[in-house]
Amino acid sequence: MAEDLVIIKSESKEQQYQSLLPQIEGLLTGEDDLIANLANVAAALKEQFGWLWIGFYLVKQDELVLGPFQGPVACTRIRKGKGVCGAAWLEAKTFIVPDVEEFPGHIACSSASRSEIVLPLIKDGEVVGVLDADSADLSAFDEVDQEYLTKIIALISL
Ligand code: SME
Repeated sequence: MAEDLVIIKSESKEQQYQSLLPQIEGLLTGEDDLIANLANVAAALKEQFGWLWIGFYLVKQDELVLGPFQGPVACTRIRKGKGVCGAAWLEAKTFIVPDVEEFPGHIACSSASRSEIVLPLIKDGEVVGVLDADSADLSAFDEVDQEYLTKIIALISL
């Protein structure tokens, strides 16, 4: 496995994802440890996009519990239906939040977060966790992020 990522910064967001996707696939190949893989996916996304926060929460009993991430320290536990992450768990769907102040019940782990995307991790029809990305910019995430982050999480053996 190559240890260094090739990071392209000057191209479009779509081109950045297209460059990153096969590299993430390479990082995951031959490794079946979930925590190791989530950690590398978070690191690769942070290195490419430089978002404020990127990471995972995993379902444990009746809560989401903080998993591998990159960025400032974060809330450790989120209940089902609470915040954007809890909503993505409850509804088993992706939420794109252009302005976190407009999302009822948003949980502000960092006051610097302005926009957010959360995607559910689904195994055998059940949500087993979420991928959460936060940006210090408003409206940082759109359908391009949803499309490629969906492809990235599909590469992870849950
Ligand atoms: N903002 C999230 C909480 C997690 S942090 O952003 C890392 C939410 O509302 O669920």
